[in-house]
Amino acid sequence: YVVAHFHYVLSLGAVFAIFAGFYYWFEKMFGVKYNEFLGAAHFWIMFVGVNLVFFPQHFLGLQGMPRRYIDYSDGYAYWNYVSSVGYVITIVGVLVFLIMLIEAAIRRRPGVANPWGEGATTLEWTLSSPPPHHQFNELPVVKSDEH
Ligand code: HEM
Repeated sequence: YVVAHFHYVLSLGAVFAIFAGFYYWFEKMFGVKYNEFLGAAHFWIMFVGVNLVFFPQHFLGLQGMPRRYIDYSDGYAYWNYVSSVGYVITIVGVLVFLIMLIEAAIRRRPGVANPWGEGATTLEWTLSSPPPHHQFNELPVVKSDEH
């Protein structure tokens, strides 16, 4: 049960947040656009994959399977198998992520300063993508959270 719980916190919580930040600042960091279809495919394949890996770990915990076991009795085989199928799907998701990176590097669609529109009000979106060296030589004056 602990294995399910902490992987939901670490894998779905932390890892998905890291990927979200990576996609949010991708264009700003690299100055090129990523392919949105590949980005969405990466999200959904990995989302299904990790849920299939870790949700069944709750059932195994409830059945009494302890953590840190290299082998287990046959009674635990079914949900461990489902979990392993989820792992393969997760790997496919990671491959799509790598394909997304390669595609963006080859196509090099030029990025814009602010691809997110009005909602992106923080200062990095006022700069070109990627930002120039020595940006904000004069301290920008922030009058409200919108300007
Ligand atoms: C698809 C992704 C992942 C898979 C398939 C996976 C698989 C596993 C497995 C099989 C164990 C051993 C469980 C046991 O019997 O006790 C484990 C333990 C652990 N995993 Fe993961 N994991 C994944 C992602 C992650 C991530 C992203 C993190 C951290 C950010 C993480 C952190 C840990 C920790 C801290 C342990 C406990 C190690 C210990 O018992 O000393 N895992 N994981």
